Amino acid sequence: WVDHVAVVSSNGKLRARRPTAAAAAGAVLGEPVAASDDQGGLVHPSEEFAAQALVSSTQQYQEMYRRSIDDPAGFWSEIAETFYWKQKWNPDEVCAENLDVTKGPIKIEWFKGGKTNICYNAVDRNVEAGDGEKIAMYWEGNEIGQDGKLTYSQLLDKVCQLANYLKSVGVGKGDAVVIYLPMLMELPIAMLACARIGAVHSVVFAGFSADALAQRIIDCKPKVVITCNAVKRGKKLIPLKDIVDVSLADGAKNGVDVGICLTYENQSAMTKEDTKWTSGKDVWWQDVVPNFSTKCDVEWVDAEDPLFLLYTSGSTGKPKGVLHTTGGYMVYSATTFKHAFDYKPSDIYWCTADCGWITGHSYVTYGPLLNGATVLVYEGAPNYPDPGRCWDVVDKYGVTIFYTAPTLIRALMRDGTEYVTRYSRKSLRVLGSVGEPINPTAWRWFYDVIGDSRCPISDTWWQTETGGFMITPLPGAWPLKPGSATFPFFGVQPVIVDEKGNEMEEECSGYLCIKKSWPGAFRTLYGDKDRYETTYFKPFAGYYFSGDGCSRDKDGYHFLTGRVDDVINVSGHRIGTAEVESALVSHPKCAEAAVVGIDHEVKGQGIYAFVTLVDGVPYSDELRKSLVMTVRSQIGAFAAPDKIHWAPGLPKTRSGKIMRRILRKIAGRQLDELGDTSTLADPGVVDQLIALGDS
Ligand code: PRX
Repeated sequence: WVDHVAVVSSNGKLRARRPTAAAAAGAVLGEPVAASDDQGGLVHPSEEFAAQALVSSTQQYQEMYRRSIDDPAGFWSEIAETFYWKQKWNPDEVCAENLDVTKGPIKIEWFKGGKTNICYNAVDRNVEAGDGEKIAMYWEGNEIGQDGKLTYSQLLDKVCQLANYLKSVGVGKGDAVVIYLPMLMELPIAMLACARIGAVHSVVFAGFSADALAQRIIDCKPKVVITCNAVKRGKKLIPLKDIVDVSLADGAKNGVDVGICLTYENQSAMTKEDTKWTSGKDVWWQDVVPNFSTKCDVEWVDAEDPLFLLYTSGSTGKPKGVLHTTGGYMVYSATTFKHAFDYKPSDIYWCTADCGWITGHSYVTYGPLLNGATVLVYEGAPNYPDPGRCWDVVDKYGVTIFYTAPTLIRALMRDGTEYVTRYSRKSLRVLGSVGEPINPTAWRWFYDVIGDSRCPISDTWWQTETGGFMITPLPGAWPLKPGSATFPFFGVQPVIVDEKGNEMEEECSGYLCIKKSWPGAFRTLYGDKDRYETTYFKPFAGYYFSGDGCSRDKDGYHFLTGRVDDVINVSGHRIGTAEVESALVSHPKCAEAAVVGIDHEVKGQGIYAFVTLVDGVPYSDELRKSLVMTVRSQIGAFAAPDKIHWAPGLPKTRSGKIMRRILRKIAGRQLDELGDTSTLADPGVVDQLIALGDS
């Protein structure tokens, strides 16, 4: 059935049919995707687990869910009241929205008129409640034996010092700050410091290249860039400051002159002496920040003031600056965290995501700290020095909630259970999965081997745009089905629509949309309201369109089936095919490129690029490497194509449109499913491509 989801482009027109990421993962592992098993495929939480859970039965969920839909203002206000607001929101404006483009501009506002500060709620509030001595963060370095920790009081001091420094160099409310840091505690500290003074942080994943960083700097024009000199991931040394230098020079050429590059000295990776330095612009964090006061007044901001910008990929070459605001995001990230992981104050929580992605924003930094949780921040690679590292870390800190991506599970599964069973893992209580569909075999392995068949798995479906979980298990409330994200979170109304936008009932498969807004929804794309409306609200008027395919089984369980637009999901990272194509065609020897996703056993999807060379240029392995290098340097290593397929020509319609459907079939070696090629301008190119497939 998964093959029957049609594809919608960002302008809402139907394009083609393609297999999905979930189909990919399932097919590779030789199993049906997300099968709902009538003979006991349900995995129940233990009675003990359910008895202590925040939501311990389907009935309790249903009552709460019904209230959240019938009376969203009342439901969310009650929760919002548990946070600190300098000034309460207008009671009649808890939520103001228009999600229908035919009725005027899209608008989503929550808690209008309220004034608060997310840093105050995530840090000060916990100290004031008597948790100052509780560990806010443990830090585990790349090398075994490197570690650190901060209590909530210490975290507050550090955040205030940095906030005071930022103020001293002129950063104020509404100013952008770009953060390009690895997983040091300084990364969440920097996010919180910005939030404290009302500045808008834009974290750029430290795996992005200099070009990609420059593009983001040019777009959001930060006053300061915060980085560190270098990081070691596994055995590899990555000189981050050198990368930032190139981006800043590029920014300056494009009229964006960033005055200050605040650089943390990450001594375990590189010394000060070895770091290239531009006096005047470059400032060592350790030289200035500790000199500032550990007290810093909070900037009270409006609920709808921007909190952060996070760039993500779409179906054009230009990344989208997803903008989240303060009040709704605060309430939503905290509430989803609490319920989806059945959070208890004694939990030790570890999310393996990097703060460079939305998961690290909502579920490393804000969601957990807003709940006063103890969070583990891990700097290194999850399989370094060997594939047992995660479980070594779990035992060392007594991790109770472990949240990761299917790609890691599949990689570790391939490495063998002996790396798992040599560790106790007894502390684990709840597991979580995010970023891509989890195929049932990986789900089972996660459940049976990692969790010793004791720990429920919260397979959380959501997106950069949604700010927090949308469809997710509440682990004590109902039985799970391997491969299913199960049911909607409070206040979320998912609908599955057909190609014409008609809502489908009961068992069905189609496009996943959301009806009505929720507090954590993004408010716009920075500087591009048109693209915001066109991409998300025009395809199906009246709904937010997720870009994902979804099916619902007879029991109402949701199964996400992957992207239905021109976005590929590689190891849980969103990559636009157009971004990779534009990097490839910037190579002087590349005339044209078309990129499609293919099944990948570990990464979920891999990147497959068809490349037409400039006339007369011969094929060579060297050129292949050089093309891959171009993508690495323009986007980052994680976007490097897995395969370059030489293409003397690309299959195009007579109007010049590339038929990606055919390219997907050729890439997937499904040659008997090429379909009708007679509408091509030159049907002969298909045979040529097939012939060159193994070259
Ligand atoms: O395709 C869906 C997939 O990841 C996309 C969102 O990517 P991003 O904005 O980078 O955020 C990733 C972390 C939330 C979605 O459109 N996705 C995310 N979680 C799941 C998923 N697909 C299936 N199951 C999930 N649990």
